[in-house]
Amino acid sequence: MTPTISLHADLPAFSRLVYGAWRLNDGADNTPQHALRKIEACLAQGISTFDHADIYGNYSCETLFGQALALRPGLRQQIQLVSKCDIMLTTDKFPDRRVKYYDTSAFHIRASVDNSLRRLGVERLDLLLIHRPDPFMDAAATGACLDALVKAGKIGAAGVSNFRPWDFALLQSAMRTPLVTNQVEISLLERSSFLDGTLAHCQQHKILPMAWSPLAGGRLFGADEAAHRLQPLLARVAAEQGVQPDAVAIAWLLAHPANILPVVGTNNPQRVAALRAEGIDALSATAWGRILGKGDADKPPLYIIGEEGGVEVEAHPAIRRLADLTPARLGREEGACISRIYVAPEDLSAAKVVLQRVWRQPSLLS
Ligand SMILES: NC(=O)c1ccc[n+]([C@@H]2O[C@H](COP(=O)([O-])OP(=O)(O)OC[C@H]3O[C@@H](n4cnc5c(N)ncnc54)[C@H](OP(=O)(O)O)[C@@H]3O)[C@@H](O)[C@H]2O)c1
Repeated sequence: MTPTISLHADLPAFSRLVYGAWRLNDGADNTPQHALRKIEACLAQGISTFDHADIYGNYSCETLFGQALALRPGLRQQIQLVSKCDIMLTTDKFPDRRVKYYDTSAFHIRASVDNSLRRLGVERLDLLLIHRPDPFMDAAATGACLDALVKAGKIGAAGVSNFRPWDFALLQSAMRTPLVTNQVEISLLERSSFLDGTLAHCQQHKILPMAWSPLAGGRLFGADEAAHRLQPLLARVAAEQGVQPDAVAIAWLLAHPANILPVVGTNNPQRVAALRAEGIDALSATAWGRILGKGDADKPPLYIIGEEGGVEVEAHPAIRRLADLTPARLGREEGACISRIYVAPEDLSAAKVVLQRVWRQPSLLS
């Protein structure tokens, strides 16, 4: 079963994997009965936290989810509900709106929460997120409104989404209650938050981040160039672990010390069933880095893993080309025994020649 995790002592535990409802209304079958089947498929995996936004499905997904909940009223007690507000879409639902903008005024936040509660058919959201930073935000007014919603019991807590650390700090400085998460885009194809301070800020302040589009919205399995480089390695690790490649991509996020909660968005109940958060061995730092490196456009397609005292190590960055692959060079650079070599498909025949003629160790190629 998917483990749970605590975002804050005053909140119910959230499931470590969250199900995102953005695409809930996109499938071939958009009946409440089918939506209920998806919810039940999640619960069967221990995925009990559901991520919404007022705008999802052109303001239709919360309604569909609410209709599904109404088919099994006891469900509300088993799930945690997240929703978001502040994006003002131009849509047929609001024909007078001429431009897309953000609204973090107390008036809009209160109205949006009331609408979400009505559409979902519930009395309380466990978590409300400000969906995107609003350049016009009056932090004092927004913060006071979020505090008041917590106090009134309409939301369990507030958080943010797509905020940079300074936006987060500004809003938090105007609040009494804690902002408990920052939901940002993180996947093997979108890795900026690892180095731009977003995850560092979360770790420093013990805020658990959520990762939206953890499979890059499905692009990880498409023809995208970076995805193409990653796919053989994901498939191989998946085969070793007896799971699907998407579970490896999710495990890669789960392994990070920031305690990321991936928000998955598949509309396919069978894919939900395969997304086990447990059952895959924790990825070592080396394995994590190896997968990270595969997504880098500027890395060569050749990766070398050595072993020293039973610990896997990557080859020295200086070893970049097949021509550099001599045992003496590796020994000098790494002081390590070479245990396995991974090569891109296009380098396979060249690598075999090197291994057989130079090293006489063809079995090293995995
Ligand atoms: N805060 C924000 O600004 C923000 C922005 C965007 C999204 N979100 C949240 O994040 C959630 C997840 O986003 P997402 O839907 O983009 O997440 P995702 O899990 O990265 O992508 C889901 C998409 O990938 C496809 N997919 C999944 N596994 C696949 C596989 N093995 N092979 C091929 N395709 C596969 C799915 O197709 P199938 O349906 O066919 O499986 C679906 O179209 C949303 O529902 C929403 O709650 C938040």
